[in-house]
Amino acid sequence: MYKTINIKDVGLKETYQLMISGVSPRPIAFVATQDNDGNDNLAPFSYFNAFGSNPPIVGFSPANSGRTGNQKDTLINIRNTNEFSISMVNYNMVEQVSLSSCEYNSNTDEFVKSGFSKKKSSLISPPSVDKSNFIMECKLYDIIELGGKPGSGNLVLGEILCFHVSEKIFDENDKIDPFKLDPISRLGYNFYSRSKSGIFEVHKPKHNGIGFDALPKPILESKSFSGNELAKLAGSKEIPEIDSNYNVFDDLDNQTLVEKIKALLEDMDIDIAWQAVLRLIK
Ligand SMILES: Cc1cc2nc3c(=O)[nH]c(=O)nc-3n(C[C@H](O)[C@H](O)[C@H](O)COP(=O)(O)O)c2cc1C
Repeated sequence: MYKTINIKDVGLKETYQLMISGVSPRPIAFVATQDNDGNDNLAPFSYFNAFGSNPPIVGFSPANSGRTGNQKDTLINIRNTNEFSISMVNYNMVEQVSLSSCEYNSNTDEFVKSGFSKKKSSLISPPSVDKSNFIMECKLYDIIELGGKPGSGNLVLGEILCFHVSEKIFDENDKIDPFKLDPISRLGYNFYSRSKSGIFEVHKPKHNGIGFDALPKPILESKSFSGNELAKLAGSKEIPEIDSNYNVFDDLDNQTLVEKIKALLEDMDIDIAWQAVLRLIK
């Protein structure tokens, strides 16, 4: 038995959920572009794949907003400049990638908000993401509009001009080791997949997160927390006030506080994690 769903009978939202849940897992292109004034823009796209090797072509689809029909900054920038970089996403990047997809306004630099350092490109102007293990510098090959309506895709095809592959991910025979590449892919709803271990969830912030640039310096510079952990804190809407209900944290030493914060972030108890963070930096 199958449940048959005719496109004529469902709305855009259901069609979208069917697309992203069924056509999965999808690799994630982390696309960096520049506007006409040279301001950097960064966003993830999982309507993405590779389509040929001679010339080497990749394609991804920034869709028009389902609500407003507006085009994404990435698409506008590529139309204007013809250039973009794609950084592949590994597990260590995934929470920061999710944070970068918040709807920041077009003059916000998502590299800064999501805490990624920039890697200068060799042949194009937009930079790429320093933490990625596999990067492609691309020039625009073609853009195919797929409907021109709210929710419609715009297939951006790019010709790869050069690859940057981290020395760290080669095996002893100079082949790319998939365990070291550690790629992440996207499924439906909040589900992602880590190729080497399976499905997990990432909860995208429901509002624009404060960003890495608003995190307290001692936390940002501490070596105790991973990018994924910091991104959960940076995804908060604001830094909370100290809440006396959590004064028990005052009695903990720093090492125990760090362990507590890590455990709370793992369980997505972000507000309580902040209460421990505020004690740690006091
Ligand atoms: C993992 C992931 C995959 C995404 N894939 C797409 C996609 O394929 N197409 C799309 O239009 N938006 C996608 N999004 C949402 C965009 O990243 C988001 O709208 C972003 O703000 C666009 O930024 P821009 O306006 O700077 O281009 C995805 C978000 C995440 C977290």
